[in-house]
Amino acid sequence: MNESPNDLNEKILILKEQRNALIIAHNYQRNEVQDIADLTGDSLELSRKAAETDCDVIVFCGVNFMAESASILSPDKVVLLTASDAFCPMADMISTGTQRESYWTFPGYKDPPKYVYPVEYTLRDIKRDYPGVPVVAYVNTTAEVKAESDICCTSANVAEVIESLPGERVICVPDKNLSAWAAKNTKKEVIAWDGYCHVHDKVRPLDVEKARKAYPNAVFMAHPECRLDVLEMADNVASTSGMLRFAAGSSAAEFIVGTEIGLLHRLRKENPGKTFYPLRKDMVCPNMKKTTLESVYIALKEMKHVVKVSSEIREQAWEALSRMISL
Ligand code: 13P
Ligand code: SF4
Repeated sequence: MNESPNDLNEKILILKEQRNALIIAHNYQRNEVQDIADLTGDSLELSRKAAETDCDVIVFCGVNFMAESASILSPDKVVLLTASDAFCPMADMISTGTQRESYWTFPGYKDPPKYVYPVEYTLRDIKRDYPGVPVVAYVNTTAEVKAESDICCTSANVAEVIESLPGERVICVPDKNLSAWAAKNTKKEVIAWDGYCHVHDKVRPLDVEKARKAYPNAVFMAHPECRLDVLEMADNVASTSGMLRFAAGSSAAEFIVGTEIGLLHRLRKENPGKTFYPLRKDMVCPNMKKTTLESVYIALKEMKHVVKVSSEIREQAWEALSRMISL
């Protein structure tokens, strides 16, 4: 398709009106996709806000588990995922044994992590190995994993969620780094799954030292999907929405941003007088970048790719999500 961005923008806006659609984009999406969206935010925030609107169609510019969350919270709306193959490798590092094939058998995945949890060991196995221990599932999980968990958490509330549970131990899936951060911030024993986000996990303390040397007056913000040794060097540890709030409220003028580089667009737009530096320029999530203006247009035009969580899974996954929301 040889359309200029302006033509595409106009076509998207016309189709959006015709379909009574809401376009929502995660904070890691391409700049031009964020700019066309009605809402930008973190995954749960987007799904919750979309559920409150009277739109008929939710166009989710993100990855598949996010569109599933939108379907769980808005079962009567049509949810479209703009890039059919946009997935989260970390979410697919855990399965219930019944869900779709795990990511390392996913065709075209070119950036395999160095090690993975054995594919034959599932959420059901860890529950069997720790009977009675409640399971906390990060929102970055499939609907099936949420359905088999006791409660969900976000990167912003993991410690609070863990504290709310009975007993002295919890199982926390799938992010080992988020689990390590949670363990540091609660008194409970956290049994961590061995998953991780390849975008955040590759950051090392040396990267922080280099950035601090280059920008000595900057405040360093880190996402809890980074390793604990990196988080311990941060001035602020926060989710993407938490970083936006922190930067807006801070009196500092310069910030080193320890998360996917897509967040820099909103940080810069919303804080014109402040300067933001990526911690590493290669903190890029290839799956988040699969959505383009063209794919947004095609999704709306052809009403694809529909993501619908089955009613049985939806009811159980909704329980886990709503337990967290009601905290
Ligand atoms: P948040 O926007 O919830 O902080 O999530 C980060 C992330 O990696 C989403 O895939
Ligand atoms: Fe998954 Fe990490 Fe990409 Fe988020 S940034 S979708 S956690 S791989």
